[in-house]
Amino acid sequence: MSGVDEIAVRVPGRINLIGDHTDYTGGLVLPMIVDRHTTIRGRFTSDKWWHLESATHGTASFSLPVRDLASLEPMWIRYCAAVVAAVESLGITVPGFTGTVTSTLPIGAGLSSSASLEIATARIALAHVAAMDDVQLALMCQRAELDASGVPCGIMDQLSIVSGKEGHATLIDCHSLDVTRIPIPDDIQFEDRFVMPRTLAGSEYAERVEQCAAIETIIGPLRSASPTDVDSLETEVLRRRARHVISENARVVAFVESLRTRDFELAGRLMTESHWSLSRDFETSNDTMDRAVSDVLATPGVLGARMTGGGFGGCLVVLRHRRSQ
Ligand code: GLA
Repeated sequence: MSGVDEIAVRVPGRINLIGDHTDYTGGLVLPMIVDRHTTIRGRFTSDKWWHLESATHGTASFSLPVRDLASLEPMWIRYCAAVVAAVESLGITVPGFTGTVTSTLPIGAGLSSSASLEIATARIALAHVAAMDDVQLALMCQRAELDASGVPCGIMDQLSIVSGKEGHATLIDCHSLDVTRIPIPDDIQFEDRFVMPRTLAGSEYAERVEQCAAIETIIGPLRSASPTDVDSLETEVLRRRARHVISENARVVAFVESLRTRDFELAGRLMTESHWSLSRDFETSNDTMDRAVSDVLATPGVLGARMTGGGFGGCLVVLRHRRSQ
């Protein structure tokens, strides 16, 4: 083994300001990193094992090279093993490792604790080889997420986490994978509010991915479709799904412009519209999340609110004027 023997990595989670369920059809998303992290620290070893200890989730191990991912328990170690397996599939020999995992990210809240754990694991597994570029690293971890959980997620979480910068949102074109940093004006703030736990595994997430793929076989890429294309879809369900994606992509563009022109009332309205589009057309919300949005919108100073991420529960993202400190 060459180079480092001891290592510590700290990787944030993300919140999505606007642009949900657009990434897996190559659309636009606008996430931002949050100030909560996954930290892995430990040392490389000469044996063929990864041993990880979590203060809250016990101890878990897997042997190298990684085999039979599905048999690994608990679930969190599967994310780590899937990343190590992805690195190994590139012909890279991953050394043994023993260490601890700690996280200040709530699990199952929609702030991408799993993507954060994947990127942290990748940084350790790749510590002895030349740096991988952000897009390649994100794609590798997206693949690992699918292998570990079976959820056919898009690229948003992993790419926003590797390319995020404090004080900025990250506009991602999920077709070209171009990333543009959008400064957050000083006089507003985005807060996350936990509402209820959720998991995407076993949810209708995969069905939404399939419905969008079915729509694209009829009207072509959703990222370049127009609202009138929706009319050629035969079923009401597919029309509603398409309407969400097409309008959501347009809202991301309008939202970025509203930040640039400092029209924060408009930014808030776009977020709230996004929520109702997810709820009514994409049907990834539920009564509890809808009620939480309505309640928070009734609070003085709140400009807009929406469910963030994959949905079916999780967190809201709330826009408000910055509170004086
Ligand atoms: C989850 C997925 C992302 C994205 C969002 C919805 O967070 O991991 O790829 O599809 O849901 O926008």
